[in-house]
Amino acid sequence: MTGSRVISLGHYQPSRVVTNDELAQIVDTSDEWIRDRVGIQQRRIAADGETVADMAGIAAEKALAGSGLSATDIDMVIVATCSSVDRCPNVASRVAAHLGIAAPAAMDLNTACSGFSYALATADHAIRAGAAHNAIVVGAEKLSDLTDWTDRTTCILFGDGAGAAVVRATADGEEPGVGPVVWGSAPDKKDTLKIEGWRPYIWQEGQAVFRWATTAIPPIALQACERAGVDPSEIAAFVAHQANARIIDGIAKRLNLTNAIIAKDIVESGNTSAASIPLALSKLVERREVPSGAPVLLMGFGGGLTYSGQVIRCP
Ligand code: UT7
Repeated sequence: MTGSRVISLGHYQPSRVVTNDELAQIVDTSDEWIRDRVGIQQRRIAADGETVADMAGIAAEKALAGSGLSATDIDMVIVATCSSVDRCPNVASRVAAHLGIAAPAAMDLNTACSGFSYALATADHAIRAGAAHNAIVVGAEKLSDLTDWTDRTTCILFGDGAGAAVVRATADGEEPGVGPVVWGSAPDKKDTLKIEGWRPYIWQEGQAVFRWATTAIPPIALQACERAGVDPSEIAAFVAHQANARIIDGIAKRLNLTNAIIAKDIVESGNTSAASIPLALSKLVERREVPSGAPVLLMGFGGGLTYSGQVIRCP
């Protein structure tokens, strides 16, 4: 059966850097508290007129430029986002128009912070079914639009940005590079993280989400390795949703990833929800920290509560 491979990545972050010290001027917090409890040193915040689609489009353009494919080769665009303000046209159609892709299947997907992994699996399944051949999968967020800048428990956490991947069908005899997805949700905990109503703000029971992430996610990540036929000791990089450095370390510790680089883009980008995994992965690859073909474990988790993970071969 045909599988798929991630063949290139791209990312975009707004130019404005917001430091912890800057936030300490608007809410009762400190650089020390934020570094200790979350691991963030700074985040990027989009300009007023800069949209989710703008950021998604630039990241997708970079991924396409590195793929060796052209816009006419792409027949599917999926954008994972929970922060796009506009309902229609969706972000995927705008990305397609920006890139000059003529008639792709174009959909947005909202599973909050696990969105990129869900979208990657959806593209992989479409390719396996013969419904697509070359897809662009994007995670993009403008969380600053959903942030209550008077709430110190949330406003220090989030940032804006986008990451994208080009995913193509494998050639005859070529090994698939996107492993089986392990995805699901915990609907009984749906109210622990909310972005509700109009005008919506992000609200969460931080400790409850923290406990769930550090206890429920490790067995799911191990299942993703098992289903890919990869021992955790073989994983070259662990790219988890960048929610909190302590969560990432807590999960990694339970996986026994003896040879893996642990992505910590949260330090310089904060929590960018669906964008955090492709953003962190794209930077690791750009810095050539992971060899091409090496197994990389992706693990998304967050609002819903939802989760999704798979092992991919590094482009
Ligand atoms: O991406 C979607 C999924 N989201 C997550 O995975 C987030 C999971 N949760 C977390 O990462 C953490 O729970 C937070 C980073 C949100 C909070 O860290 P925490 O270690 O769980 O802190 P806490 O909520 O237990 O608060 C400890 C103390 C409280 O003060 P008291 O009651 O002990 O006096 C808070 O009021 O820290 C206080 N606090 C702050 N202090 C300084 C809360 N926010 C701040 C702040 N600056 N920004």
